[in-house]
Amino acid sequence: MCAYQCKIGPSILNSDLARLGDECKRMLECGADYLHLDVMDGHFVPNITFGHPVVQCIRKSIGDSPVCEVHMMVSKPEQWVKAMAESGANIYTFHLEAAENAEQLIKDIRMEGMKAGCAIKPATPVSKLLDLLYTQMADVALVMTVEPGFGGQSFMRPMMEKVRELRKVHPTLDIGVDGGVGPNCIHHCAEAGANMIVSGSAIMRSNDPRKVITDLRNVVQEVIQQTTLER
Ligand code: DX5
Ligand code: ZN
Repeated sequence: MCAYQCKIGPSILNSDLARLGDECKRMLECGADYLHLDVMDGHFVPNITFGHPVVQCIRKSIGDSPVCEVHMMVSKPEQWVKAMAESGANIYTFHLEAAENAEQLIKDIRMEGMKAGCAIKPATPVSKLLDLLYTQMADVALVMTVEPGFGGQSFMRPMMEKVRELRKVHPTLDIGVDGGVGPNCIHHCAEAGANMIVSGSAIMRSNDPRKVITDLRNVVQEVIQQTTLER
């Protein structure tokens, strides 16, 4: 048994936002392991999406069991912890660059009954995230593979070095990649050691999202199996 499992989390940013509940259900029916909900405040990133009232509506629409990660691309991540927990978020992923006190924030997120994720932008060195994890472990480390703000951008392969370093030090941690991830580059993510795969346009714009989700999962699982055999 490997220490970590592959999980595919579609990002619904590029879906039909007027039909968000149905789009989320469609992704779950197509085999998504969790939903990745991109929250943007127009300040931390140059785009605005939605906040906790919408997350609450999504939760009502999809029911209690599906796992929802909120990716908080906001300037004051401390401000929304309670509201997101009450709205039904399960994983609260904040940006290290935006947190005033990341260690305390992780504790506060857990106090509200959620898992804590910490994301880093492409320009942020992985050493900063490793330092944080050394003093305060998070549940998820999310490596951005595009500049946060918009879906549909190109995957930044040099970010795989960050994933590799994180995996070397943390063999059981949930490590995510987010941005431009699809069938063309999934092998790079898998080989570097990522297991939480966020994918937006590659899934949402496909005529066969179920196949894309299955293909992504197969590549990651194959690498996980090989890694287990080599141990
Ligand atoms: C980017 C978001 C991502 C993105 C994923 O700011 O955090 O979740 O929307 O979509 P694709 O896969 O299209 O880059
Ligand atoms: Zn995201």
